[in-house]
Amino acid sequence: MKALVLSGGSGTRLRPITHTSPKQLVPVANKPVLYYVLEDIARAGITDVGIVVGETAYEIQQAVGDGGKFGLDVTYLPQEAPLGLAHAVLIARDYLGDDDFVMYLGDNFVLGGISGLVEEFRARRPDAHLLLTRVADPRGFGVAEIGPDGRITGLEEKPQQPRSDMALVGIYLFTPVVHEAVRAVTPSWRGELEITHAIQWLIDHPYDVRFSTISGYWKDTGNPQDMLEVNRSVLEGLEPRVEGEVDDASEIVGRVRIDAGARVRGSRIVGPAVIGSGTVITGSYVGPYTSIAENCRIEASEIEFSIVLRDSRLSWIRRVQRSLIGRNVRVTPAPRVPAGTCLILGDDSKVEIPL
Ligand code: DAU
Repeated sequence: MKALVLSGGSGTRLRPITHTSPKQLVPVANKPVLYYVLEDIARAGITDVGIVVGETAYEIQQAVGDGGKFGLDVTYLPQEAPLGLAHAVLIARDYLGDDDFVMYLGDNFVLGGISGLVEEFRARRPDAHLLLTRVADPRGFGVAEIGPDGRITGLEEKPQQPRSDMALVGIYLFTPVVHEAVRAVTPSWRGELEITHAIQWLIDHPYDVRFSTISGYWKDTGNPQDMLEVNRSVLEGLEPRVEGEVDDASEIVGRVRIDAGARVRGSRIVGPAVIGSGTVITGSYVGPYTSIAENCRIEASEIEFSIVLRDSRLSWIRRVQRSLIGRNVRVTPAPRVPAGTCLILGDDSKVEIPL
């Protein structure tokens, strides 16, 4: 069995974070979402992984390399444009050969992983197996309708009036019959070859399409609050470990990971929280559910329930919360005169200023 990981596309929903970084590399607890995907695949006992890449191929290849660090053998499959998930399967035809495969969208995050699912698929081998999860607003997903006999009767891609709240999770298990299905579909209203339509074709013909339901699922729905939530759930399971330097004037409380090369001076860190290597925290408070990436400076500031990406700096700021701060950002006090807020924000930024 092989894995096909989709890491093309452009990532408009998490802007501004994804203006300069592929969405698959957005970090959760200081680790790119794509790494969780690859680790999950390795844990399921799959070693051959094809990664579909588009305009951000360089960054993805820099981050993943040949897959050796995950125990995987990675092959990159360039896609000329994001023409749809079924198009990605089309271009992967030669790589996949006649093997069964798990297709895993590189921006999807599932708590609990796919090992059990892969085992079950190997044992029963239906033509396709899907994962579904209940969501509050299904309009941003593929949506499945389940008949009275408990089987999927129909699938719709991003319907305006969803017929159920069961969304398709971006993990699909296929036997090689899917290659016939992806050849049979035509572009949707959004100009993409939809995998949802290819699966509908399987249901109609009638192949055996099964599903399981899960909870503990995240994708980039465009809501940074969701990202803070997934960061929170991952930090809940954090292994506490202090490898960086912490001076005697500092206090570390609860589940905290301080990576080698990080320095904490005269500060209080209350977990769950993770501090990346090269980061220096001085005279500050870092509160629960916070991930601070590499090479940041936090001085005389307070921050909690937030994500700070690498090379950013917070000086003399209190208190930052529920925030998503990109790379190489500076947050500092304004000069006393003239008093005023000075903002230099990228496109699609959002700021809340207390009155
Ligand atoms: O995440 C689950 C949803 O994924 C499902 O509920 C939908 O049925 C399915 O169509 C898909 O919807 P999205 O619109 O969210 O897919 P998105 O364009 O974000 O692409 C998902 C991943 O696949 C992402 O990592 C980018 C990559 N991709 C996407 C396209 C369209 C490719 O590598 N090539 C492509 O052509």
